[in-house]
Amino acid sequence: MKLRTALNAQGLENEHRVFRSTRSTRNHQIGCGAILFYKKLYWRGNAAKTKIIGDILRKIHNQNVVIFDYGCGNGGDWPSILADYPNIQLIGYDISTKSTEIAESRLSGLNATLLTGDALYDQNFNAHFIVSFSVLEHVYDRKFYLNTAKKHLREDGYFYLNYDDGHFRNLLDLNEPRLWLSQIHGWLTNLPSLIFGGLNKDNFQMRVSRSMIDELIAECGFKIDEVFYSNLMDFKRLYKTLPESSLEDYINFWLNVEDTLNRKFLFNQKKSNPLSDTCNLWQFMGSRTLVLRIEQL
Ligand SMILES: C[S@@+](CC[C@H](N)C(=O)[O-])C[C@H]1O[C@@H](n2cnc3c(N)ncnc32)[C@H](O)[C@@H]1O
Repeated sequence: MKLRTALNAQGLENEHRVFRSTRSTRNHQIGCGAILFYKKLYWRGNAAKTKIIGDILRKIHNQNVVIFDYGCGNGGDWPSILADYPNIQLIGYDISTKSTEIAESRLSGLNATLLTGDALYDQNFNAHFIVSFSVLEHVYDRKFYLNTAKKHLREDGYFYLNYDDGHFRNLLDLNEPRLWLSQIHGWLTNLPSLIFGGLNKDNFQMRVSRSMIDELIAECGFKIDEVFYSNLMDFKRLYKTLPESSLEDYINFWLNVEDTLNRKFLFNQKKSNPLSDTCNLWQFMGSRTLVLRIEQL
């Protein structure tokens, strides 16, 4: 039976559900583990973001909460989330004024405050949750960024720090000359940051090294509560080929595959590799999320 049909048959209409499934084959009960089912999916097409929003919605139930999106860009999927959850107050900040203006117009009439430039630094809010999606690899002063996040997180809050490696994986396929231009262009966009570093702050991007960021996180007074890798390359590509009618089932399947990989098949490899993270999943899932809490002294 399809997951959705099974849920409906039980009258379980909640948006987000975790249930345990077992099936019987020749008198053997096979525990399939906890199956995650997300009925309403946000930020579709990016499994890390869909999972993070789903996890937060599961944690908050119907409580009133403040969520701070640090590096909110154009506002992503917040218009749908805030329309569905009036109990969420969003504070979005982006260093880019242009992106913040777009976010502001997309979120007008909803429970959201958008900030840009220096406006963040004299604010006193404390968020229940901070999310930062695909931002860290663009941040030049990473220590300042982490300290600012810490200042705005409640003592019992959660900081979902997600970063990507996609920009730094430009493989040149010698069999496909038609793709060379875009592949070389991808590689060239990394050069100014390598050469000019801080002079290129507005368009900065540099691969995040796992050991360096994990050390900096500890130095800034956070502890790592959970880590997971996301966005299996071929799953992300396959998503783009599917009709709307199959997306809900497909994304749930995708999230469950990644959940199992992280729970059962995550290994650290001893030999170093050029991707600056020795974890086996990182080679195929170029998105890493750390769930951070404030270290209580
Ligand atoms: C790849 S976009 C991601 C946008 C959004 N989080 C999303 O997932 O759709 C990266 C964003 O990080 C922002 N950014 C870069 N450095 C930043 C910083 N130090 N503080 C806040 N935002 C920053 C950029 O302006 C850009 O909008």
